[in-house]
Amino acid sequence: MASLSMLRFLFLATLFVITATSSTNDVKAIYWLEQPLFPPSAINTSLFTHVYYAFLAPNNVTYKLHVSNSTATNLAKFTTTLGSTVATLISIGGANSNATLFSLIAANSAARATFINSTITLARTFGFHGVDLDWEFPRTASEMKNLGLLFKKWRAAIAAEAAATGREPLLLTAAVYFSVDYFLSETSSLRYPVGSINENLDWVNVMSYDLNGPWSNHTGPPAGLFNPKSNASVGYGLGSWIRGGVIPKKVVMGLPLYGRTWQLRDRSVHGIGAPTIGPVPGSDGVMALFQVLQFNKETGAKVVYDRETASVYSYSGSYWIGYDDPISVAVKVGFAQAFSLRGYFFWAAGLDTSDWKISTQALNAWMLCIKETGRMN
Ligand SMILES: *[C@@H]1O[C@H](CO)[C@@H](O)[C@H](O)[C@H]1NC(C)=O
Ligand SMILES: *[C@@H]1O[C@H](CO)[C@@H](O)[C@H](O)[C@H]1NC(C)=O
Ligand SMILES: *[C@@H]1O[C@H](CO)[C@@H](O)[C@H](O)[C@H]1NC(C)=O
Ligand SMILES: *[C@@H]1O[C@H](CO)[C@@H](O)[C@H](O)[C@H]1NC(C)=O
Ligand SMILES: *[C@@H]1O[C@H](CO)[C@@H](O)[C@H](O)[C@H]1NC(C)=O
Ligand SMILES: *[C@@H]1O[C@H](CO)[C@@H](O)[C@H](O)[C@H]1NC(C)=O
Ligand SMILES: *[C@@H]1O[C@H](CO)[C@@H](O)[C@H](O)[C@H]1NC(C)=O
Repeated sequence: MASLSMLRFLFLATLFVITATSSTNDVKAIYWLEQPLFPPSAINTSLFTHVYYAFLAPNNVTYKLHVSNSTATNLAKFTTTLGSTVATLISIGGANSNATLFSLIAANSAARATFINSTITLARTFGFHGVDLDWEFPRTASEMKNLGLLFKKWRAAIAAEAAATGREPLLLTAAVYFSVDYFLSETSSLRYPVGSINENLDWVNVMSYDLNGPWSNHTGPPAGLFNPKSNASVGYGLGSWIRGGVIPKKVVMGLPLYGRTWQLRDRSVHGIGAPTIGPVPGSDGVMALFQVLQFNKETGAKVVYDRETASVYSYSGSYWIGYDDPISVAVKVGFAQAFSLRGYFFWAAGLDTSDWKISTQALNAWMLCIKETGRMN
């Protein structure tokens, strides 16, 4: 509780007085998933600095990135379409990838070298500007240590390749848990390899979302900035990365372009923390932002901005959806700037409204805060 009010104070107190450095390295990124209905050409590149191709995976026998012929076609299309206007990165792993395989690669020097070599070779072959590791998640102390070692070897190989070819070094980033301590391990909480992250990565993409969902028996903000009842909040998570020693300019805040859905146990009890019986039927527990807005309109849902968590929810009948709207996103972007973070990223392309409402609001809020704080002068 004490730390929460402290955080709020810090946020308000610093929003308009920080004097940060140049904004040329800011990150406004988005992940793009291979999906036929949303080609890379549909991305409005004036809203972003970096676009991630999600996902590739290593082969579990060769440890090299596996690329089928159709994937090769997609990789080439992706960089040809986007590569001249934004930086493009290959993201490796993802929520459905094989965590055991990453554990094995990180632990074994020959496997590590083969894997790293294949990522650099592939990025250069297809004209990408960088690579990203999304290992969900290292679950033991030795896996965390090996992750740090993997980053170190990766950076060394990237530097050597750049020196040998005279090209700009590839970017190296990683998608990480919402907090610097991974809570979900069986034993105790595990800390990410902070020293190696500072030394070897350009930045981390902090997955500060999915903090509440229909897997629990009550409603809650999926990506609330604050949470008076627990540490499951964006503010706590980002704060933990900074307190844990990661340089703020290496931290990028994650923003979801989707809502989480619940079915209320009792439709007359519909606040935050209301009892629920699972996800809204048919929604899989997830709704793209544009679908949430459609749902709100079609059902005449009641929309509530919750000040305490700086999040938004809507409900209609027994359906309840937690999400971010332009206001909560603007507040979060202000928070990211108050902490001098590098920027923000979205999960994922294709989920915003067709006119990019949320992405545009994030960009405007970022630019506005830069002006307020004199960063452009
Ligand atoms: C892309 O975004 C920019 C900045 O918000 C906007 O001016 C432009 O109209 C958008 N383009 C399209 C095709 O939506
Ligand atoms: C590789 O993955 C496949 C498919 O999941 C599995 O059947 C196979 O046993 C794995 N091979 C090794 C060497 O781990
Ligand atoms: C993939 O492409 C290569 C070279 O273009 C070709 O030799 C190979 O037969 C293709 N494989 C499949 C499965 O289509
Ligand atoms: C994951 O990778 C490990 C190590 O290579 C392998 O033994 C296992 O079969 C893989 N699992 C799946 C589901 O592919
Ligand atoms: C990858 O390995 C090959 C074969 O050993 C080598 O020729 C190449 O220079 C390596 N590439 C990088 C980026 O290390
Ligand atoms: C949800 O409630 C059911 C029974 O009502 C219980 O079995 C389950 O453990 C609860 N889950 C959580 C996450 O609290
Ligand atoms: C929140 O995290 C702090 C450490 O960062 C810990 O002391 C505290 O017990 C946590 N609170 C809850 C409710 O887990």
